[in-house]
Amino acid sequence: MAAEFAVVILAAGKGTRLKSAQAKVLHRAGGRSLLEHVVRACQPLGAAGICVVVGHQADELRAAVAPLSVKTVLQEPQRGTGHAVAVAREALGKKAKYAIVLPGDAPLVRTETLRFLLESHLISGPAATILTAILDDPAGYGRIVRREDGGVSAIVEEKALDREQRKIREINSSIYCFTLEKLWPCLEKLKPENVHKELYLTDAITLLHQRRERVEGIQAADPREILGCNTRADLAEVDRIFRERKRAALMAAGVTLQLPETILIDPEVEAGPDTIIEPGVQLLGATRLGARCTVRTGSVISDSVLEEDVTVRPHCVVANTRLGAGCVIGPFAHLRDGAELKPGARVGNFVEVKKSTLAEGVKAMHLTYLGDATVGRDTNVGAGTITCNYDGVRKNPTKIGARVFVGSGTELVAPVEVGDDAYIAAGSTVTENVPAGSLAIARERQVVKEGWATARRAGTRKSAIRNSKLETRETEKRKSKREKRKPAKPKGSARSNSKRKKR
Ligand code: UD1
Ligand code: CA
Repeated sequence: MAAEFAVVILAAGKGTRLKSAQAKVLHRAGGRSLLEHVVRACQPLGAAGICVVVGHQADELRAAVAPLSVKTVLQEPQRGTGHAVAVAREALGKKAKYAIVLPGDAPLVRTETLRFLLESHLISGPAATILTAILDDPAGYGRIVRREDGGVSAIVEEKALDREQRKIREINSSIYCFTLEKLWPCLEKLKPENVHKELYLTDAITLLHQRRERVEGIQAADPREILGCNTRADLAEVDRIFRERKRAALMAAGVTLQLPETILIDPEVEAGPDTIIEPGVQLLGATRLGARCTVRTGSVISDSVLEEDVTVRPHCVVANTRLGAGCVIGPFAHLRDGAELKPGARVGNFVEVKKSTLAEGVKAMHLTYLGDATVGRDTNVGAGTITCNYDGVRKNPTKIGARVFVGSGTELVAPVEVGDDAYIAAGSTVTENVPAGSLAIARERQVVKEGWATARRAGTRKSAIRNSKLETRETEKRKSKREKRKPAKPKGSARSNSKRKKR
């Protein structure tokens, strides 16, 4: 059976009602384009081929479906849904006996429903089977006109309805299964006799009926599934339904979602059991979370991997990043573009990490930028550290070894390397490599002018003179002090090292 049927997706229309520069089926809902949803629903059916009819923004559509291994055919100009199917005829080849035809703008349709449509078509063998639905408000859809024996005699478009037909609540989903040898002759007979001067696929149903061919209508179990996206309001509704489906699936898999309706999760996201997602979180793209993670409120995570037991504190932005087991980040951290934290590393508030690797046990807790850097095990990056990775032309690397103490307010002007166990004094601007085990101080010495401030406040002429004398005296004092200090004391003691590391 498999090789005997093909799928035709109609996606050439413009979608005027969206009032958009972008083709309708490329609009997104539930984390994917409408068209991608439809193609993905068709793929597991095992059809001989899937053919997408493109027209408006054909190149963009072709690019969008390129990774999905489907054929495209060009409908130019777009003369209606009946014409669109006729255009696909050659692409379907001679082998396909049946075709499932469906619109690219009804993304909620599920594989099971399409399979049900196909199977019931094959069992009862009519010329066409239409998937229908009963709607409370059928406005905008074509209506199904039934014969007394239950078969379908016509589909009447909204604008052509007579008074009696207006009462019909059974609508055409635009999802069909056709026996192709019966369909082709009818498509050749279509006439553009309607308000839009188009060749309607729906008119082929009437023609089949007139030729005494049987047309079945089967109802979808869930009428929401056939919802077409013609307006922005439709898009929002479809998005809402997709998000709901995804959240339900994650909860069923053991993930806790707090105030689930506030959480946005893309279709490919995975999360392990006992992970907790707080309100207002977005998990996007190919994000994977391990077991027992906590993602706190307001965080946005895209295309990232979080191993188990990771905590993301409130309001973090994480993109293309890998967080090892037990990492803690935030609040207000920004990790991006290939950032990697090995297990147990920690990043605190107002810290940005770009394309950098932080080894196990590294801490960068406050107001820091690490870009194009590698940081070795158990190194402490003090508050306000900045890797100056950009020289105006290119990005340069910073390499910091293991167990390094980077004092607060340090600027590391890349390219630069700091060896293992080194110590960098607070406020340093490091422009040269720092050897392992050494101390680097790269800043101006402090000058203290005793009494200066008091004198200035007093503002008298006398004090101003005194003031300048004080300054001179001060310089002399420092000079003599420096001389006395020689020879230098032994190097940085272990005691002060461990004490400072705690900050
Ligand atoms: C169509 C049906 C209507 C049904 C509704 C369900 C017709 C005439 N009407 O109306 O009975 O209730 O779907 O949603 O078929 N397309 C092409 N080439 C064209 C024109 C359209 O490929 O020349 C594609 C569109 O891109 C779209 C699909 O066909 O994906 C349906 O077209 P659309 O204009 O949305 O039809 P509706 O007015 O919704
Ligand atoms: Ca439509």
